[in-house]
Amino acid sequence: MRTLAWVDGAIELIDQTKLPHQVETLRLDTVDGLVAAIQRLSVRGAPALGVAGAYGVALAASKNAPGSPAFDADVTSLRTARPTAVNLARMVDRVAAVATSTEAALEEARSIESEELMASVAMGNLGADLVAELVGDRPVRAMTICNTGGLATVERGTALAVIQTLHERDLLVEALALETRPLLQGARLTTWELQRMGAPHRLLVDSAGPFLLARGAADVVLIGADRVAANGDTANKIGSFSLSLGSRHAGVPFLVVAPESTVDMTTASGAEIEIEDRGADEVVSLGGELIANPGTEGINPAFDVTPVALITALVTDTRVVRFDRGQVL
Ligand code: MRU
Repeated sequence: MRTLAWVDGAIELIDQTKLPHQVETLRLDTVDGLVAAIQRLSVRGAPALGVAGAYGVALAASKNAPGSPAFDADVTSLRTARPTAVNLARMVDRVAAVATSTEAALEEARSIESEELMASVAMGNLGADLVAELVGDRPVRAMTICNTGGLATVERGTALAVIQTLHERDLLVEALALETRPLLQGARLTTWELQRMGAPHRLLVDSAGPFLLARGAADVVLIGADRVAANGDTANKIGSFSLSLGSRHAGVPFLVVAPESTVDMTTASGAEIEIEDRGADEVVSLGGELIANPGTEGINPAFDVTPVALITALVTDTRVVRFDRGQVL
């Protein structure tokens, strides 16, 4: 199943806000509609955002002449729809640079989509090889956060592609998925994907992650990334940093899995990464129901930054960077 596709002049995508209970396809034929879908997380995950943005430029080109003020305004609203995942602005810019026509934009967007698909396969293999090297050639228990599967990319994913590859190699005892408050990407999306791939898995609340690592519940932690800075600092879903601290305490390898399209050499370190603030509502309520005392204010950073010193290695589609051995990007 493809997360999104260009169908007869519009973008069709699985509405991830409805999963796992309903598998609904959303058809988006305006840039404003796509921007709203990105902002409410109907489509999400760094590589998927890049592909959605790329097709978004084709949509913009089909409405207004490339280079016109209306086209440029659409490009700006697409590239700034969410700030943290570098893939979105990067792929919007890449397509906008060659978008002399809708067809030209579509051709570039299709290239991006197939590059991301090949990247997922490569990351799965490189990551599974690295896990075997670090943990030993035996079945492993892998902990992960958020959703980094096909839904967050084109197919297979990043960290979840490694878990899928381990499963296909009969080297997965179980995946341990953190629920990922406040929007529950782990509980809603990762469990759905793990079940579809037939991989054994259990779900835990976010705060159980570091404790269970200390108790020896996992052999490796695998996370995705929204942006990897030039020094290796990595922005990913809020809760990743706590998990890296727990991993270091427990002596468990902590691996970041992300395509080269998520590595941002123009951002020197994590301190420079803009972290999306999604507002208090998602924290004080759950599924639309208020769970906090009425009037309570909330803090809602959607991502955190794990310092490179806590990351064992970065697995991309072309290389493994062993930060634990002093290698650099
Ligand atoms: O807010 P989201 O759901 O878009 O956050 C997604 C993540 O943090 C993922 O881990 C990251 O984008 C990598 S996805 C392959």
